[in-house]
Amino acid sequence: MQLDTSTTLSPITRTLHWIVAVGMISLLAIGVFMVETKTYSLYSWHKSFGFIIFFVVLLRVFWRIKNGWPQAAGNYTKLEHILSKLVHWLLIVGTLLLPLSGFLMSSLGGNGVEVFGLEVVARNVDPANPQKALAHYPQVASFFHSVHHWAGYAIIASVFLHVAGALKHHIIDKDSTLKRMLKE
Ligand code: HEM
Ligand code: HEM
Repeated sequence: MQLDTSTTLSPITRTLHWIVAVGMISLLAIGVFMVETKTYSLYSWHKSFGFIIFFVVLLRVFWRIKNGWPQAAGNYTKLEHILSKLVHWLLIVGTLLLPLSGFLMSSLGGNGVEVFGLEVVARNVDPANPQKALAHYPQVASFFHSVHHWAGYAIIASVFLHVAGALKHHIIDKDSTLKRMLKE
C-alpha cells in the first residue's frame, strides 16, 4: 500500500481528503441553510448523508494514524507549520464531532435517525400529540445541539483559513502543496 512521501500524497490520502471535503462543505452549507430558512424537508437528507460520511471520516482517521501527517511540501516558516497543524487538527476533530453530536442530539432528543428511509434510531412519538417527539434526555440533547451549532461555525471558519492557506501556497509561494493534493 502506497504511503505519503515528502513529494507525493498517496491515492488513499487524496481520495479520502476530497470525499470528506466535498461532503463536509455540502453538509455545512445545507445545515446552515435548512436551519436559517426552516426548510424541514432537508433534515432527513442532512441526517442521512451526515451519518454515512461519519464512516468515511473514521477510515480517514485510521489512515492518518497509520500514515502520519503529510510532510511540508515547501520551506514553511515555524508559524506556518504551527497554524497549518492547528487547522488540520481542528478539521479532523470537527469531522468526527459534527456527525457524532448530530446523531446524539437527534437520538436523545427523541426525533430519531433515519438513513435514506432505514430506521437507525426510532422517533419517540408523544402519545398525547403524535405530531410531536418526546425527548429521552432533554438536557443532554440540548447540550449536543449546542455542540453541533458551535462546532459547525468553528469548522466553517477553519475551512476558510485552510482554503486561504492552500491558495497562498499555490499563488504566492508557488509550491506543490495544492498540486500534490490534486494529482501525483
Ligand atoms: C459531517 C456531518 C455534519 C455536518 C458538517 C453538519 C452540520 C450542520 C450545521 C452547520 C448545522 C446548522 C447549525 C445551526 O445553524 O444551528 C446543522 C444542523 C442540524 N444537523 Fe447537522 N451536520 C452533520 C451531521 C449531522 C447528523 C449525522 C445529524 C443527525 C443524525 C445531524 C442533524 C442535524 C439537525 C437535526 C440540525 C438542525 C438543528 C436545528 O434545528 O437547530 N447533522 N448541521
Ligand atoms: C476547496 C476546499 C479545500 C482545498 C483546496 C483543500 C486543500 C488541501 C491541501 C492542499 C492539503 C495539503 C496540505 C499539506 O500538504 O500540508 C489539505 C490537507 C488537509 N485538508 Fe484540505 N482542502 C479543502 C477542504 C477541506 C475540508 C472541507 C476539510 C475538512 C473539513 C479538509 C481537511 C484537511 C485535512 C485534515 C488535511 C491534512 C491532510 C489530510 O488529512 O489529508 N480540507 N487540504
